[in-house]
Amino acid sequence: MRTRLTQRGQIEVAATEVPLASRPAAEVPGHWLLARLGKRVLRPGGLRLTRSLLGDARIAGQHVVEFAPGMGRTATVVLDHGPIDYIGVDADPHAAELINRLVSPKGRAIAAQAAASGLPDHSADVVLAEGVLTIQSETGKQQIVDEGVRLLRPGGRYVLHELALRDDDDGADAAAIRAELAQAMHVHARPKTVAQWQSLLTDAGLRVQTVHTSPLALLEPRRVLADEGFVGALRFARNVLADKPARRRVRAMAKTLRAHKSALQAVGVVAVKAVGPPA
Ligand SMILES: C[S@@+](CC[C@H](N)C(=O)[O-])C[C@H]1O[C@@H](n2cnc3c(N)ncnc32)[C@H](O)[C@@H]1O
Repeated sequence: MRTRLTQRGQIEVAATEVPLASRPAAEVPGHWLLARLGKRVLRPGGLRLTRSLLGDARIAGQHVVEFAPGMGRTATVVLDHGPIDYIGVDADPHAAELINRLVSPKGRAIAAQAAASGLPDHSADVVLAEGVLTIQSETGKQQIVDEGVRLLRPGGRYVLHELALRDDDDGADAAAIRAELAQAMHVHARPKTVAQWQSLLTDAGLRVQTVHTSPLALLEPRRVLADEGFVGALRFARNVLADKPARRRVRAMAKTLRAHKSALQAVGVVAVKAVGPPA
């Protein structure tokens, strides 16, 4: 099966083409397991938050770069807005190839680290990154945002969509939450508070324009339906039910997310690069 967008807006990808397809369900990073099972939206605030952010960032007729596009669900929404071009930058070569097939000829994708995309200075009006900063170290987060700022032309917009701690006290509870998320998701999830995410952007020279939050409901049935549509949600449910090790893992992830529902949320920020020299 070739990667393609169906008339119903479904991204069709064979499970064997999803990155790390041969890794056992018990070991694979959570986002790739969910993708293997048919999930296409892999960021905490879902498609609704993405749409709000893309509206704020005004992407029609613009040069758009997306870091870490994953399975390409946001890429398809970006293309619906009619940008001048779209470039996806994903560290995983298989993901980059999937995205390339999905967006070509209107856009393209490259396999590269978001922190070192190799794209020219001031070549983007909008840089998007969803669900990728959370899984980086502190230095990694800064390097990716700095790279985004380098790519943006003055007046360009940086779009962040990540996992946030609700409490402004980034203390012992946060450490316990991070440890439990890492155990369930098999990635180092290091969320920040909303204020800390904003500081990451302002420290890189951006001015925060809009901030949105939404509940963390990635695996809640209502959110899965909203993100994946009826056909996609049904396919995901069927695949989960048919695969015992995957089902066990998805249950464990959902349980961990639910246990920390009151401490975690999704955050979306649009921040602007100054037109003149920094004050
Ligand atoms: C949790 S998924 C998010 C995918 C997508 N943005 C979404 O929200 O549905 C993480 C994605 O980030 C990519 N990724 C992780 N670290 C990266 C890095 N340093 N540079 C570029 N891509 C990265 C992975 O390959 C994967 O596609």
